[in-house]
Amino acid sequence: MMQRLAVIGDPVGHSLSPQIHMTWIDAQRRKASYESIRVPRGETAAALADFSRKKFRGLNVTLPHKEAVLETVIDTSPAVAAIGAANTLTRNTDGSWRADNTDAPGLMAALRRAGIGDVSDKTVLVLGAGGAARAALYALDRGGANLIVLNRTVEKAGKVIVACCRRSHRFGPLEDLALHAVKADFIINTTSAGHGGEFLDLPEGKGRLFFEMSYGAPAKAQLAQARRMDWIAEDGLGMLVCQAAESFAIWFDCALPDVEIALEACRETL
Ligand code: ATR
Repeated sequence: MMQRLAVIGDPVGHSLSPQIHMTWIDAQRRKASYESIRVPRGETAAALADFSRKKFRGLNVTLPHKEAVLETVIDTSPAVAAIGAANTLTRNTDGSWRADNTDAPGLMAALRRAGIGDVSDKTVLVLGAGGAARAALYALDRGGANLIVLNRTVEKAGKVIVACCRRSHRFGPLEDLALHAVKADFIINTTSAGHGGEFLDLPEGKGRLFFEMSYGAPAKAQLAQARRMDWIAEDGLGMLVCQAAESFAIWFDCALPDVEIALEACRETL
């Protein structure tokens, strides 16, 4: 039977997810399709009912539905509950949906690709306290890292730690970046501070990893600044493909697909 998959969001036209998943569907000769479907804000519940009726196998969920799906989906993984957002839905046999968050394992897989195999007892500086930071905090805390969360709005940094972590961690204002960067094993930037062509002022990297969660044009200025300051700068494309791989493995109940072929396809597009 043909398996229907889709990414839902608004906007969704720019999404690389169809290309990533179609690369694997083609490579594995699976009978499946992956569409990109615009679902406006406020229409999450109606859309899920519709996709269930149409017997979609799975959905990727992006803005503005990542949190809203939790109002209708009750079958959620522990990660979804702690992060407060889902990016992967799988239709159960009774037509209801199961919600997972593959951003957390996707980040860990992307870090492994970047040479960080084990985060336990590492000191990690996480910049930002929004949706992307929540998945990162969840994954790194469970991995045993010691975290320092810095955010423009300091109170939010304290709140996301309480919401997403089992252990307590330090937090503070983004202005203290240089101070904390000295003792960090690596940095994860989840802020959109650099997206207007500006960038966060990083001190000397001395060959350490600066992991930028965004990719393409918005990430450019920040990555360039990091490299000037001797950081090994990685963009978020690796994480995008790794989280997609986790979703694919859930939907098809199979091993993780080949990340490198999908990454190559994305790099050609960007
Ligand atoms: P995402 O889902 O990508 O994490 P988000 O939830 O809107 O998006 O979070 C954006 C993050 O970037 C927040 O941490 C935000 O800081 P505030 O919590 O203080 O708003 C941060 N951010 C956005 N623009 C910024 C800027 N110009 N300087 C510093 N931080 C910025």
